[in-house]
This record gives sequence, C-alpha cells and structure tokens, in this order.
Amino acid sequence: MTTGKPIKVAMLGCGTVGTEVARLLREQRHDLAARIGAPVELTGIAVRRPNKHRDAPQELLTTDSAALVESDVDVVVEVIGGIEPARGLLLSALRAGKSVVTANKALLAEHGPELYAAADASGADIYFEAAVAGAIPLLRPLRESLAGDRITRVMGIVNGTTNYILSAMSATGSGYGETLEEASRLGYAEADPTADVDGFDAASKAAILASLAFHTRVTASDVHREGIASVTAADIAAATVLNRTVKLLAICERVTGQDGAEAVSVRVHPAMIPDGHPLASVGGAFNAVFVEADAAGQLMFYGQGAGGAPTASAVLGDLVAVARNKVAGGRGPRESAYAELPVRPMGQASTRYHISLDVADRAGVLSQVAAVFAEHEVSIAAVRQEGRPTDASLVVITHAATDAALRSTVDKIAGLPVVREVVSVMRVEGEES
Ligand code: NDP
Ligand code: HSE
Repeated sequence: MTTGKPIKVAMLGCGTVGTEVARLLREQRHDLAARIGAPVELTGIAVRRPNKHRDAPQELLTTDSAALVESDVDVVVEVIGGIEPARGLLLSALRAGKSVVTANKALLAEHGPELYAAADASGADIYFEAAVAGAIPLLRPLRESLAGDRITRVMGIVNGTTNYILSAMSATGSGYGETLEEASRLGYAEADPTADVDGFDAASKAAILASLAFHTRVTASDVHREGIASVTAADIAAATVLNRTVKLLAICERVTGQDGAEAVSVRVHPAMIPDGHPLASVGGAFNAVFVEADAAGQLMFYGQGAGGAPTASAVLGDLVAVARNKVAGGRGPRESAYAELPVRPMGQASTRYHISLDVADRAGVLSQVAAVFAEHEVSIAAVRQEGRPTDASLVVITHAATDAALRSTVDKIAGLPVVREVVSVMRVEGEES
C-alpha cells in the first residue's frame, strides 16, 4: 500500500546521469512507491539548455535552478557536477530542511564539511553513494555496515575513464587520445576529462573514502595526486615484461608513526601491480575497491564505476533511503569526523618502486647505481640488466622505501654521468614489501 503523501523531488541536471535517473523514476514508479511507502513525484528538472532535452518531459524543464530548489519539494537530487552553482543550491536546500542526494564528488571533497554541517543544523539527509565508484555499494558499507569495525586500508581503482584508457593501452596498444574520446562518448568521463586523466576525480573520491573510513575530515587538497598523463607505452611494456599491470590506484591508509601516534595517508597515482592481483583483471570502466578492517579482514567491492545507468542506480538507492527517512520521520546516520587524525605528507608514504634506466654498458655502472641506493638507504629487491648495441637497460625494483628517500635517490642517479636517461619511475603495489 502506498498511501503516504507524495515525496516531491527536484532534479538539478539532466545529462548522462540525470537522464537515467529520470528514466528509472518513471519506469519503476510503482515499485519505488511500494518500497518507500509513498509515491515519488518528480516536480522539476533544472538544465542550462532546455532545447537540447527533446526527450525529457518538457513541462518539467526549467533553467531557474534556484526557484526549483526553493519550491515545495522534499528532496533535491543534484547531478550537475562542479562546485558552483551546485554548492549554493545544495546549501540552500539543506538549510530549508530538504534532503539532498548528490553524485558530485568534486563538491563533497572540497566542501563536504560545510554541507554536512548544514544538514545537521536542519535535520536533513545528505546521501552520496553515486559519488564514488558508480554503481558499487561502497559508501554505505563503510558508513554503516563497518561502523563497528576499525578500518585500516582502502585501496582500489575508483576512476572508470582512466581504467578504460589503461586497459585499452595494455590490451591493444591503443593511443591515449582516441581512447579518451571513446570514454567521453560512452559517458564515463567528466565534463572536463582532465579531471579524470590528471587524477582529480580519483583524488576527490579518495578524500571521501578516507573521511568515511577513518572518521576524519580529509579534503581533496590533502590527497597526493598523480594522473595517468605520464604513463607511457614504455611503462606498460616494462610492466608486461615483469608480469605486472599498470593501474591508477587510490590508496587510503591508517598509519602508525614511531611515536605510536596514528595518522592517515591518502594518495592517488599510477602503480604496477602483479598480474595475479585481483585488481589487475579489473578492465574497462569497471572499478574495484579493497577494504581491510581489523575484524572483518579483507573485503572487495567490484562493479561498474561509471556510466549513466550504473550511476543512476546508486542515485535511486539513495533517493529511496532519504524518502524512507522522510516517511518515517527520521534521518540517516550523520557524517562523523571525531577521530581527527592528521594527514601524513606524501614524503613519508612507503612503497616499493620500479625504476627503469638507460645506462652506459660498461664495467662498474651497476655498482655506481647501487651505491646511490645504498647511500639513501633504499634497499634493492631485484635488478635486471640487458645489454643493447650502444647502451644497456637497467631495471631496479626496490623494497619499501619512503617517497622522499626514493625521490632523492632518483635525482642523484639522474645526475650520474653513466646514466643516459631515467626512463620511468613507478610505484609497485600489491606485493610483500
Ligand atoms: P553531464 O555533463 O552529462 O550533465 C550535467 C547536466 O547538468 C546537464 O544536463 C547540464 O545541462 C546540467 N547543468 C550544468 N550546469 C548547470 C547549471 N548551471 N544549471 C542547471 N543545470 C546545469 O554530467 P554527468 O551526468 O556525467 O555527471 C553529473 C554528476 O554526476 C557529476 O557530479 C559527475 O561527477 C557525477 N558522476 C558522473 C558519473 C558518470 O559516469 N557520468 C558517475 C558518477 C558520478 P545542459 O545539458 O542543459 O547543459
Ligand atoms: N568520470 C568518472 C569516472 C565518473 O570515469 O570514474 C564516475 O565517477
């Protein structure tokens, strides 16, 4: 029975995600009403260019987002993206006690605390499952299912566009530009795809994941960020030779210093992982995230990380949750940042490295290079040298070393007269240190 008063919903944006949200709302209205205990009524859709939206219900379209938010609605769904006007519109909705569902990771990673405070002040909900890893239920498990555990690490592939590009480069040797165009055409990329390739999107998601996992405010500016623009065909070939795969990883860790004090380390960068690692086989726009917790052990979340319909599934899930809360007269769990752990600088992050050098092929070269590693206390795990007609290729894989020590080592090695070029430096993850 769905006798409840209709839950009125305003939607801001009707692009890749919004179009699918509107479709699912229409097609599943009877089931949604039964699950919520009240019908859902979409009362308006704000867009910039109404003429572009021939397939949308014309009577619902408006360019006046502010008026739509101020109208008599219970929930605002935001799928515009970017900081403004999304931030102002959502603050205005929350301050008026209207619940918010958003897929906007860039906004949450920069202004999350301001939005959560506004929600707390008025008793409204703010839900954002779609903001990280598309269709994959990940944030609710972190916020609710694992609320009784102590999470130590969250690591995974959280950007579909870059995974699509890297998968294509590895499988077929396709070029970077053409694959990015394809990812945009398929609706995976952000409106400005540099957000994907330069790692901003993954860094926003890492900030959200770390905040939830460690009950600490982590913003995008706390996240060390490297994108995939510097990943070359040579890097991918080098990884292949070593039975490894290059992936853009987001890594959020709880770390304990020598003084016993806890901190968090959050970083996004390309890394080589062994072909046998579960993340290595995650292809195309799929995402996968490992969560490690003291009592639960290892958990893995996998699914479609981008695209209109998968993302709309997560938006609808949130919409049902906030609508149920409205019907029941309560609200969902609040954001919690009680732990207030400091964020550790990247220089102190510790990983293994793969370093590929072009060197002169003569006696004593290896010992000169090895001496620089020793001087910086970076321990070598493996070395592979291959002679070529006029020089040699030297590949060094290290044991775990701090980012700062590795940087100094590479800077010094680059200046050695016997080193012709530092061809690539890439972190190695997913192996024993
Ligand atoms: P699109 O660029 O496809 O759509 C954006 C929509 O917002 C368009 O309909 C646009 O209107 C509208 N819009 C833009 N600016 C304004 C404005 N000032 N006022 C009113 N409407 C405006 O983006 P997506 O659907 O791909 O993404 C939406 C959000 O979802 C973003 O936050 C994104 O990060 C997030 N997201 C996207 C995923 C994906 O796979 N695409 C996955 C997970 C999250 P018009 O069309 O008229 O220009
Ligand atoms: N542009 C994002 C991606 C969309 O490629 O992962 C999903 O958040």
